[in-house]
Amino acid sequence: MDKRIVFVTGAGRGSGEAIARRFLSEGAVVAASDLKKPEWDAGEYEDKLLRYELDVSDEDAVRRVIADVNAKTGGINVLVNNAGAAKPDCPIADETKDSLERLFRINLEGVFFTVREVTGYLQKNKKAGAIINIASVAGKNGFPKSSLYAATKAAVIGFTRCLAAELGPDDITVNAICPGSVDTPMLAGVIDGIARRTGMSFEEAKKMMASGIPMQRLQTPDDVAALCLFLASDGARNISGESMNLDGGSVRD
Ligand SMILES: NC(=O)c1ccc[n+]([C@@H]2O[C@H](COP(=O)([O-])OP(=O)(O)OC[C@H]3O[C@@H](n4cnc5c(N)ncnc54)[C@H](O)[C@@H]3O)[C@@H](O)[C@H]2O)c1
Repeated sequence: MDKRIVFVTGAGRGSGEAIARRFLSEGAVVAASDLKKPEWDAGEYEDKLLRYELDVSDEDAVRRVIADVNAKTGGINVLVNNAGAAKPDCPIADETKDSLERLFRINLEGVFFTVREVTGYLQKNKKAGAIINIASVAGKNGFPKSSLYAATKAAVIGFTRCLAAELGPDDITVNAICPGSVDTPMLAGVIDGIARRTGMSFEEAKKMMASGIPMQRLQTPDDVAALCLFLASDGARNISGESMNLDGGSVRD
């Protein structure tokens, strides 16, 4: 990865942190961004890490930050759109227009803004690149009580497919990763909801969730990071337009 300049959104914790750390450990230069500047210790890789405060739904800020990263590094060639928000365990009767707008602003508009900036730069400079959008199996499979979140992730999958067709001739791959249940603070909100409804403890609810997965375990942030690494590698230059499930075999499409 030593020729990769990687921009990761939502990199302050959870999968985003694992993705940024993995690329660093493989030799890439990484720009890690989140609502608050990521603060984790990069140890021996500190000199290859840039940290940014960035709300991906702020169009001007996205433009400014990406221009700054490009100026400081020679140009982003791997974009990982990982930032995302959910409203777990919410029946349709309790959903609101505000929450619809908020989820689309973060989960779709945020992806659109970063992709437009990064691919515009790549096209202008005739450089190859890899765009990786973190969607969700929720965008493919129906789950109860996550309708608006699922709609945003289905939108990301559609966005990814169109752009793969459009940007392939410019040597830019565009793929989505569809995780199932990744053990992060976001999933803790879902598990909390199950525990509340069923009277189980948090740990019991978590165990039950894992037991419903063919591989009998939750996914980890490192699983997501490993697939990002592959999709950004030379070995994946002929893979584009995919929405790869990373869910231990739950959704088999
Ligand atoms: N955890 C799961 O089970 C799961 C499953 C499928 C998909 N995903 C997706 O994986 C991605 C990572 O989620 P996670 O599980 O690590 O969750 P998380 O909540 O632990 O981390 C999400 C990160 O995104 C950041 N973020 C939220 N809104 C933002 C904004 N407007 N601008 C910039 N950053 C923002 C948060 O600050 C946080 O650091 C998300 O896109 C999520 O939808 C997660």
